[in-house]
Amino acid sequence: MNFQKEIVKWYLSNKRNLPWRSTTDAYVIWLSEIILQQTRVEQGLPYFNKFLENYPTVVDFANASETEILKHWQGLGYYSRGRNMLYTAKQVLEIHKGIFPNAYDDLIKLKGIGEYTAAAISSFSNNQAKAVVDGNVFRVLARYFGIEEPINSTIGKKKFSTLAQDLIEDQQPSLYNQAIMEFGALHCKPKLPLCAVCPLQLDCFAYNHNKIEILPVKLKK
Ligand code: ADE
Ligand code: SF4
Repeated sequence: MNFQKEIVKWYLSNKRNLPWRSTTDAYVIWLSEIILQQTRVEQGLPYFNKFLENYPTVVDFANASETEILKHWQGLGYYSRGRNMLYTAKQVLEIHKGIFPNAYDDLIKLKGIGEYTAAAISSFSNNQAKAVVDGNVFRVLARYFGIEEPINSTIGKKKFSTLAQDLIEDQQPSLYNQAIMEFGALHCKPKLPLCAVCPLQLDCFAYNHNKIEILPVKLKK
């Protein structure tokens, strides 16, 4: 079985049940992805629920005051996220008439939406074949494929994103993207990855070359 098939198979029997995985509403996925940017899932969950309750649509969000948004954001940290979200929501009102876009090329043009978030929203909501490359994906790819270029160097970033994009081509984009992120978060973890019970062990570069501790490489800047 190949890398992608093993990852998806692992995911189907090990995934967490998370609320943003049962929707294709681009707005709801955007909400979850921004909240989860610098926040862990357990901490972000109650905020996600609260925001969705108070602002069921992007129009509701865009019409809220900054004070109100920041009040709900209280305790999550990185308050610029809340402020930028209001800006993004207003852009969606103006440019897309209040309908949150689900195409990568539309998403990437919005303020506060970078490559990762545009790939996440377009794949999860629209099954667009755009590979997500977050910390989890860097780690899994670096270890399994033995990529020793730093994840934060120009050459490294290019190499990882090209590989990630090649790997998603024949997959179900939403499923595969969720699967590789979840595999990195729960199984191929930064510390003490579960190599002993890993379905990828046989062909994993880091496991076979004893490089789990040093991959992925990150430059101190
Ligand atoms: N962290 C960022 N995005 C996530 C997602 N869609 N599911 C789980 N954890 C995440
Ligand atoms: Fe990650 Fe270990 Fe599995 Fe390799 S064998 S993919 S390092 S968990």
